Amino acid sequence: MKHWRIEQMDWDAFDAAKVDPDIIPVVKAASVVERNGLDYAAYLGNVFIGDPDFRAAAENWAVEEVQHGDALGRWAMLADPGWDYMEAFERYRRSFHIELQVDASVRGSRTGELIARCMVETGTSSFYTALADATEEPVLKAICRQIAADEFRHFKLFYDHMHRYLAREKLGVWARTRIALGRVTESEDDELATAYHTTNEPQETPYDHERCIAAYMSRAMGFYQQKHINRVTSMIFKTIGFAPHSTLQGWTARAMYWLIRSRARKFRKLAVL
Ligand SMILES: [Fe+2]
Ligand SMILES: [Fe+2]
Repeated sequence: MKHWRIEQMDWDAFDAAKVDPDIIPVVKAASVVERNGLDYAAYLGNVFIGDPDFRAAAENWAVEEVQHGDALGRWAMLADPGWDYMEAFERYRRSFHIELQVDASVRGSRTGELIARCMVETGTSSFYTALADATEEPVLKAICRQIAADEFRHFKLFYDHMHRYLAREKLGVWARTRIALGRVTESEDDELATAYHTTNEPQETPYDHERCIAAYMSRAMGFYQQKHINRVTSMIFKTIGFAPHSTLQGWTARAMYWLIRSRARKFRKLAVL
């Protein structure tokens, strides 16, 4: 079912001289978040009881997410041979978990859940496209391109199912906007900050949300260009139910890029780099 396989990548082409040291911590953090996809599939399985089509799609989706983690983890071990992906993942699992035993979405409805999933895939597809464009290291560039293609397909998957539920649940534009923007701003919550902590900091260093999110975001936000944010805003507009290419979307894209750059500057000041 996978669209590509880790073994197909040309791992021998890895070029240590082309690795930007600022990319390694971000790749390490992303690898464990991706591998955690199985937990999300279990959560989605509980939210979508009685919808075998979606549950089967979610299981397949999780297999692809885990492969993203494994590919990034393998690359990070080449870039930093002293680092252990599986050990870091176990540490991450002990520190961060989502509530799996649910019988309804934390977003209030199935449509809401699928909107949140669309936002996550919007974020990941743009992130890996930006990372592929930012890195000169050929193996990471190739991996990020494959992953980004998967993430765009995931967006489409959740978007299509969202429309199926929207026909029944009839969530209005403002409710959709609130859920979408709520999920976008959650990117500064604990998931990525904990991932940064458990994959980059020594065991004995206590977790500090502000320090870790600043360390992660100050690097990750720096990879984005205006063209990546144009795509992000189109995908957000489309999910909410607005025209994906319009004057309003163009303004929003420029405002969002300005905001990201100013947040990145703020995080750089806060980060202990
Ligand atoms: Fe992924
Ligand atoms: Fe994905």
